Amino acid sequence: MGIDVITKPRIRLTRRVTEMQVSPTLAVMNRALELKAQGVDIVDLGPGEPDFPTPQSVCAAGKRAIDEGQTKYTAGNGTKALRDALAARYNRRYGTSIKAENVIAGTGGKQELFNVTLALVDKGDEVIIPSPYWVSFPDQVQFAGGTPVFAATDPQNEFRPTFAGIEAVATERTRGVIINSPCNPTGAVIAEKELHRIVEWCASRDVFLMFDETYEFFVYDGAKHVSAGRWFDEYPETIVCINSMSKTFAMTGWRLGYAIAHRDVITAAGKIQSHSTSNPSSISQAAALEALSGGEDEVRRMWEAYRDRRAWLMPAINGIEGICCAHPDGAFYIFPDVSAFFGRGVVRDSQTLTNYLLDEARVAVIPGSAFGSDDHIRISYATSMERLQEGVRRIEAALKNLR
Ligand SMILES: Cc1ncc(COP(=O)(O)O)c(C=O)c1O
Repeated sequence: MGIDVITKPRIRLTRRVTEMQVSPTLAVMNRALELKAQGVDIVDLGPGEPDFPTPQSVCAAGKRAIDEGQTKYTAGNGTKALRDALAARYNRRYGTSIKAENVIAGTGGKQELFNVTLALVDKGDEVIIPSPYWVSFPDQVQFAGGTPVFAATDPQNEFRPTFAGIEAVATERTRGVIINSPCNPTGAVIAEKELHRIVEWCASRDVFLMFDETYEFFVYDGAKHVSAGRWFDEYPETIVCINSMSKTFAMTGWRLGYAIAHRDVITAAGKIQSHSTSNPSSISQAAALEALSGGEDEVRRMWEAYRDRRAWLMPAINGIEGICCAHPDGAFYIFPDVSAFFGRGVVRDSQTLTNYLLDEARVAVIPGSAFGSDDHIRISYATSMERLQEGVRRIEAALKNLR
């Protein structure tokens, strides 16, 4: 039996990766970048990151870390000093008794979501995700071999996840629930009563609750952010909090996020991390430590800017004929319903509307289809008031031309 000689080798990708979606937000962003590079004046309302610089004191701590030679590997799950500080932050706020062994820091909240998902989701497991959802949740669950099951939320209820919505889609195979509050893309903030019921239900069914509070600081109009972390001492086996330095402290590029969970879950996530990225950047950890010890004034200033932009944006967007926008309480996104324009001109769905806005209005937004809702688009107000006002003016003019 001879061995076939392969004259033209093929690239053979795994099923795992071919089944994964390319982040749909990237396609729009890439096209917007291309146009910008050609000198076109694009108003970019797509960004999922603060438009503010990282606070000076945090940058200085990063520089100091380099000068002092903190440029080597650290403990895999993050330095003890950082994990102590993160645990103390939760304990201060929620009266919990979280310890360093309950904390893992990694290369962004995204990495910890991935690690924990891989640690808790097996083939055939179902994970309930309220919809609209942040793009990475379903793909991460699928990558782990699980099945995402979507629990629709209601724009009339400002897209807030509810216990009834979660329970309605639960089955024998439900292994976990992922709640993101405040939510990207809708801005929805879960009500305390609903979250408490979900926490208790998860514990009674031995189902994990992954609570992503990446946007925890950004709530408005007197709304209150409620963290599943406050029930951690009661249900340490089922609650996992995911958090990040990225949005709160305008540190997206530093890549520093973390998870808080039972020691056994942290050990499992740490095992995965040890074979992938080893540890988060030593420099970023030193900078994060500084942010945790004093960056709150700058965070407050960023919050005030988002609050003022949102206060201007909501009536302005709802004043555009054909647009209807729910009024959720948090994050720095709004998620207007634009389905009234479908069937007009070249517009058929959220993707073609997004293309139209980029081509005609020179405004970049993200199609709702990326987040599981084709009737909507996501508009980010993580951009200056002037650009925001210019963007909305252009959107209104372009939509008026659609017949
Ligand atoms: C809901 C949500 N969770 C997690 C993340 C991850 O952020 P990072 O990896 O920068 O910490 C993001 C980033 O956009 C997000 O929107």
